[in-house]
Formats: sequence, structure tokens, C-alpha cells
Amino acid sequence: MDQNAPRKVEHQQTDRGYVPVYATGVVEQPWASYSRTDHDVWNTLFQRQRELLPGRACKEFMEGVERFGLGEGGIPKFADLNKVLGKTTGWELVAVEGLLPDEVFFDHLANRRFPVSWWIRKPEQLDYLSEPDLFHDLFGHVPLLLNPVFADYMQAYGRGGMKAFGIGPEALMNLTRLYWYTVEFGLINTDEGMRIYGAGIVSSKGESIYCLDAPAPNRIGFGLERVMNTRYRIDTYQQTYFVIDSFEQLFEATRPDFTPIYARLKDGTAHAAADVLGSDRVFNRGTREGFATDADT
Ligand code: PHE
Ligand code: FE
Repeated sequence: MDQNAPRKVEHQQTDRGYVPVYATGVVEQPWASYSRTDHDVWNTLFQRQRELLPGRACKEFMEGVERFGLGEGGIPKFADLNKVLGKTTGWELVAVEGLLPDEVFFDHLANRRFPVSWWIRKPEQLDYLSEPDLFHDLFGHVPLLLNPVFADYMQAYGRGGMKAFGIGPEALMNLTRLYWYTVEFGLINTDEGMRIYGAGIVSSKGESIYCLDAPAPNRIGFGLERVMNTRYRIDTYQQTYFVIDSFEQLFEATRPDFTPIYARLKDGTAHAAADVLGSDRVFNRGTREGFATDADT
């Protein structure tokens, strides 16, 4: 464990043992407590995605994995990754127990701190997990933090989150949809073809294949208000993926003040996850095969 870890306030008993908890939900990464099985789970998941992602994930993601030196040597130490981040985009990984209250999460992002769950899933959970673990948070999200434009987008998102939090729950929902359809489940259209950048996809073997190859889901060009007004599913693969042309496009599209957008969207009804609109730039109109028919989130 890192004896010099900052922001320590007290120790607390949690579901996963007795750990030091900081005011911001931050704990020390209890690296010495990982079992052989924990390291093996990381290695297995890493190996599966390494085989799958070339030609599927965008090059910025693949470069990030490389530059961090991620591999099959067991669970990385956040302190080592932070040395690389400190020299490049200035982000810092902080270990957390799990999902944080919205405003705490936004405050971390706004200060270029990325919260990573310190614990990893069990061997019987390789394919599905209902809450984010270390593999999702670290392998999924952290490689792109080395890309300067994406790194700035994440910080801007955190600042925008603080603002939306002050406006109200509807605004927050609109902003959460943006995160979902970009940071978690985004696709990017490159000269080499359609690629993945969303963390929820790159950390999932099944969805890494499904999102690009399956005929069922829609693949639709990114539009800011379109995305902010579209519901999503948390329990199945996505019914629609939104496709950006570049990280610069995403950053520029989200630069304007969202206040009038929140006001506009407040009175209307949101689109269902599977909807295709006349105004959409359609890359693939999904067949909807196998789609759940109950309500979206
Ligand atoms: N421009 C947004 C606002 O005014 C902030 C934001 C930036 C939100 C980037 C998300 C992503 O609220
Ligand atoms: Fe995530």
C-alpha cells in the first residue's frame, strides 16, 4: 500500500474489509490484498480483450494500453499508472469502493481525478457484472485519458456535471445520457472503419463483437441533443450506438452552454433507446432482433 497517500481522513469497515476512506470516497488501493485469483481474473480478461480489440477498438485506445504497459502481469498498481498520467495529461487515478454520489464523481473529474473501483470481479463473473469493477474502470476508461482531447472532454464533463447538478434532476439525466452514449458506449468512424471507444464496450467481450457486427442495433451519427434526449438500457447490450467522427467533434459539440438545451428538453418526451428518427444519419438501421420490449431507463 502507498504509505504516502494523501487525503486520508479515517478508517472504515466496508463490505470488503477495513480500509482507509478519504472525504471524497477515495481509499488506498490495497494492492497487497489481491489474491492469486484476483490477478488471474485480470490476466484472463486482459488476454481476451487483447485478442479481440485490434481492428475493433480505436487506435487512441490501443495506444493508451500500450503506453501504460498494461499486460498480463497481474493487476496494475495505480501509483505506476499515475506516473505515466502525470507526465502526459495530468490525470490521476484514485481508488474507490464503487459508484460515488453524482456530485462527488463530478468533482473528481473536474479536477482531473478518475475514480477506479479497487476490487475486481470473481472468476464466475467474467462476462457480466452489474456494477463497475477494476477491470471495467481501469482497462475500459483509463487508456483514453492519455489522449489530450479526450482527457479535456472528461474534465469538461465533470464541470458540466456540477452545473447540471445545480439545475436539477432532469438536467442531470440529460447529461448522464451523454456520458452513457459517448464515454461508455461510443463508436467512432475512422478512415479504417467503424471503431469502439466506449469503456463499457471495450471492457466487454460480448459487446465488443456485438456493437460492430450484429445487425440488431442501430448505429447512428452523433448529435448532441439527440443523445441527451434518448433513453438507454442498463441490463442488455445497447439498442443504439451513436457514432462520432473524431474526439475533436465531440469536444466542440459539447463546448456550448447546455442551459438552454436543458430547458428545451425538459418539456418534451425522450426517444426510446431503439428509435430511429427521420433526421438521423443512419449507418445501420437495426433489425431489432432479440430486443427487450419493456421500458428503457
Ligand atoms: N458545455 C457544457 C455545459 O455548459 C459542459 C459539458 C462539456 C458537458 C462537455 C459535457 C461535456 O453544461
Ligand atoms: Fe464506466
